[in-house]
Amino acid sequence: MDCLRIHVIHQGKTSFAFLCIAQTSDLPADVCSFLSKQELAMLEQFGSEQAKSAFLLGRYSAKTAILLARQTLGGEDGPVCEEEVKRLAKSGLMPNIYIENGIFGQPIIRFLPKLTGTVMSEVIFPFDVSIAHSCHDSAAIGASIVFDKAFPIGVDIENISRTPSKFLAEKITDDEIENFQDKELGRLVAWGFKEALSKVLKTGITLPLYFFHMSPIKITSDTHKLFVIGYTGEFEFFSQYSCVSRIYKPPKTHSQAFCDCECVLSIVSPKHCLLIL
Ligand SMILES: CC(C)(COP(=O)(O)OP(=O)(O)OC[C@H]1O[C@@H](n2cnc3c(N)ncnc32)[C@H](O)[C@@H]1OP(=O)(O)O)[C@@H](O)C(=O)NCCC(=O)NCCS
Repeated sequence: MDCLRIHVIHQGKTSFAFLCIAQTSDLPADVCSFLSKQELAMLEQFGSEQAKSAFLLGRYSAKTAILLARQTLGGEDGPVCEEEVKRLAKSGLMPNIYIENGIFGQPIIRFLPKLTGTVMSEVIFPFDVSIAHSCHDSAAIGASIVFDKAFPIGVDIENISRTPSKFLAEKITDDEIENFQDKELGRLVAWGFKEALSKVLKTGITLPLYFFHMSPIKITSDTHKLFVIGYTGEFEFFSQYSCVSRIYKPPKTHSQAFCDCECVLSIVSPKHCLLIL
């Protein structure tokens, strides 16, 4: 699993967020090792294996990010290493975290006290989570960001090899993607930004798409060890937010085909926040 600590800076105030991206081969064989009782019941309700995988990857990546954030709040600092992520997965803490879906589908973090089994939210954890998943044949990928509630963030992940449909061509306007030579990629990037914004707003894409209109998306040469090329954008009607997206290629694993696919990973955050990925 790829995990990254993000530094969030705004007018001299600093905070942090954690981004975790998991693919099918990262999942523990035993889902009871990371799902709560409530989530096991939710899992039963999915009709397809793809929907189950997507749910599992979302929950697994989110809980890893939550535990990393809790550790950081507890004073542990420094970059995330693979051994630490594995240790957290085996800590036995994950089933005590319940990520519920609120009335609008939005993810809500709840902590389950081990002994009583009572559900309660943990007031000393002022963080929220945004979740996205994408499926491809038998494999899937899940991305989650856990962030300080003071700096709301939304995430989306879209598989590039999934043929962009007529649906997207109707949703994205030409001016939004005028800087792209590859218009299909541009539409996917624009769609990712709109979905990520809709998660910050907690509305989903229930507003007329007009309200998600963007100024022309810019292509940057920004790089990071997890990501290759970057795109940035701003919204016409939600000018308090800006967004960045990157092409992300999951690391190769022995068992899954998904790693041959590239994804567009989109992050929306308050405009004047500097996110150092
Ligand atoms: C919210 C929405 C943008 C998510 O996009 P998507 O392509 O379906 O799925 P993604 O993989 O990108 O994201 C899924 C995650 O978004 C999160 N999410 C769902 N609704 C959300 C909301 N209102 N606010 C914030 N996050 C939300 C959930 O955590 C979900 O994962 P989970 O169900 O495993 O917890 C989309 O479902 C939407 O617009 N919904 C509103 C319209 C609607 O209800 N349509 C019917 C279903 S298509």
